[in-house]
Amino acid sequence: MNSKIRKIINKKNKSKIVCLTAYSKNIAEILDKHVDIVLVGDSLGSVVYNYTTTRKVTLKMMLEHTKSVRMGVKKGLLIIDLPYNTYRNKSEALKNSKKAIKATKCDAVKIEGGSKVKEIVRYLVRNKIPVLGHIGVTPQTVKGKFKSKGKTELEKEQLVKDAISLEQSGAFAIVLECVYTDVAKRITKQIKIPTIGIGASVHCDGQVLVTDDILGLTDAKIKFVKKYINIKRIINSAISQFKIDVKSKKYPTKKYSY
Ligand code: KIV
Repeated sequence: MNSKIRKIINKKNKSKIVCLTAYSKNIAEILDKHVDIVLVGDSLGSVVYNYTTTRKVTLKMMLEHTKSVRMGVKKGLLIIDLPYNTYRNKSEALKNSKKAIKATKCDAVKIEGGSKVKEIVRYLVRNKIPVLGHIGVTPQTVKGKFKSKGKTELEKEQLVKDAISLEQSGAFAIVLECVYTDVAKRITKQIKIPTIGIGASVHCDGQVLVTDDILGLTDAKIKFVKKYINIKRIINSAISQFKIDVKSKKYPTKKYSY
């Protein structure tokens, strides 16, 4: 097993795993100074392309963005989301994972789904592709509004089953998205690989969020998103100053001219 992956697994019960998304080099470079994992999520569909569903994200788009992110990530683990309809069966999943790893030099792939994708995960891992699982709310297959998971006993049992089957199939960690606190805690205790929560409580072994959301670049009003800065305001003020300088001929001065 890749030493970077081993390092992530070894953090369980010792130190929280920090993960954020990136879609291009400049942000990735900043993240890499701080986080353990940089994820090129297919959330780029909504964040960058304004799609209402991640289903429209293609492998080609993911590859281009991940190549850009790769330039900024030197020390962290770089993971690519396999987009919708690119892992419908074992051979498709392997072909596309190999293509992604070859083209982007990323360290692992993330795929959505629990027990339903266990054979695909097992096949990828057997073929030396490290896999990050993703259960709870799985945006690629959500119909209608996102609804947190694990409220009913039935849902709780299913989530636990899903987590165990992903662990048994060889996933090195699992993202729990919008999962109720009690079941996130139970899964985290029950499995030996780390859980990485997004809206799944403090009990997970790590946390992931969409970087654009925490920077205030998006207008996301999601319960679990904590905005750490309103970067839009800062950018607005810089752009407005540039406009004033251009209009008033304060820019470019001699310093900025040949
Ligand atoms: O697409 C994404 O960015 C994700 C994470 C937020 C978990 O799947």
